[in-house]
Amino acid sequence: MTELPTTGTPNPLAAGFDSTSTLEFPPGFHFGSATAAFQIEGASHEDGREDSIWDAFCRVDGAVFSGHDGSVAADHYHRMPQDVALMAELGLDTYRFSTSWARIKPGDRELNPKGLDFYSRLVDELLENGISPWLTLYHWDLPQALGERGGWANRDTAYRFADYALEVFEHLKDRVVDWTTLNEPWCSSFLSHAGGEHAPGHTDPAEAVAAAHHLLLGHGLATEAMRESAGREHRLGITLNFTVADPADPANPGDVDAARRIDGSFNRVFLDPIFRGQYPEDVLGDMAEAGLAGHIRDNDLETIAAPIDVLGVNYYNGVLVAAGQDPQGSEQSLVFASGRGLPRRSPAVGSERVQNIDRPLPRTAMGWEVQPEGLERLLLRLQDQYTGPAGIPMVITENGAAYDDEPDESGFVDDSAGRLAFIDAHLRAVHRAMERGAEVRGYLVWSLLDNFEWAFGYDKRFGIVRVDYDTQARIPKASARWYAQVASSHRVPA
Ligand code: NOJ
Repeated sequence: MTELPTTGTPNPLAAGFDSTSTLEFPPGFHFGSATAAFQIEGASHEDGREDSIWDAFCRVDGAVFSGHDGSVAADHYHRMPQDVALMAELGLDTYRFSTSWARIKPGDRELNPKGLDFYSRLVDELLENGISPWLTLYHWDLPQALGERGGWANRDTAYRFADYALEVFEHLKDRVVDWTTLNEPWCSSFLSHAGGEHAPGHTDPAEAVAAAHHLLLGHGLATEAMRESAGREHRLGITLNFTVADPADPANPGDVDAARRIDGSFNRVFLDPIFRGQYPEDVLGDMAEAGLAGHIRDNDLETIAAPIDVLGVNYYNGVLVAAGQDPQGSEQSLVFASGRGLPRRSPAVGSERVQNIDRPLPRTAMGWEVQPEGLERLLLRLQDQYTGPAGIPMVITENGAAYDDEPDESGFVDDSAGRLAFIDAHLRAVHRAMERGAEVRGYLVWSLLDNFEWAFGYDKRFGIVRVDYDTQARIPKASARWYAQVASSHRVPA
């Protein structure tokens, strides 16, 4: 692996952090990478896999950039051993991947042994290479058969999920210690059922709150079922995506209320039921019109609050918000790329109540602000209010960035000033949060490979390794070489 020169030059993306010093992470801290089934596997109808809601959504005109779909993706289904070898070469100790429900139980009917076998082989391959598998059971690819029965808006899907989760757990628990039920339920509820940007592409706030509650219920039911069958070594958890919202004018009550709404409808609507067994009163109020409370049945909240062992934190950016009508006057303008902004027609937010204010921060190719300091604050707040009192640690299960990569003739991408600097800045933020008391046990970069970025198709590249989609060649970018050094030395160099 080529040594990258350390320049000692401050990282312009690490504003607020001393980027001229070398940071040491504790020896037990995990450095790894993350992917998701639909985004990399391809082989969408091989070995018994059937449609997921994303296969169906990709066929909707205009839903996905340029009509891209997941049929080939990064062809990981056929290249899995090489991809694991690549991770080993990069010295990564943990790999977070997701299992495809539509591959393992196509149509949510009986188990498909060939589908399950793929993940069993993946786990073996990882272990043989000294990499710990971190398994996410749901990363948005619901079997289309369940989608046709209402998907997550239908309460029954929560029970179907728990059955699927337990079946996968029973088969792989002998080799997999770390289990995540859901990835980013905000996206599979609000962004998918109210924002219309993700499968199934609906724009109905009432459906979104139903989906959010049923996802939480599914998480709780699955956690209870797996816990009963788990040993002491297993770690069960959930991954949430967080939006750090700041009021444009902290002295203006309207702006403060706008930030409260965002915090409520992105963060606390999931955090509070999981950690405190209740929805926050203000969120219930904000979502009253959409009917959130009407979905809560006896014992649901106890189930949802089933104890977990780790909180997965996905962080990409923050937002600055103010009261009032969005300046561009359209609901559309409140949605920025892939829902990291404010969802249109979102219950509790609404374009008439909250506007997004631009601030002079660098942005990634997604248009998202680079705000590493938000991650430090987020981790400290979670530690203080949620994970600390519950006595559990956090792991950064995703953080990373898309940039417009420009490969040279050999396919190499020098992303030092973009992705590498972004990861460096965020690792500094994690380190500082840890120094200030946040219990963070690992960092999994999003993503190992360029992949299918949902509604953006293959147009946006998050990989530290370039995928040439014509040849399926994998070419580590400068960020991958640098990250390999970080992982092996447990140091972020100056
Ligand atoms: C969130 C999701 O979990 C992942 O699937 C997505 O590609 C990245 N973050 C970037 O948007």
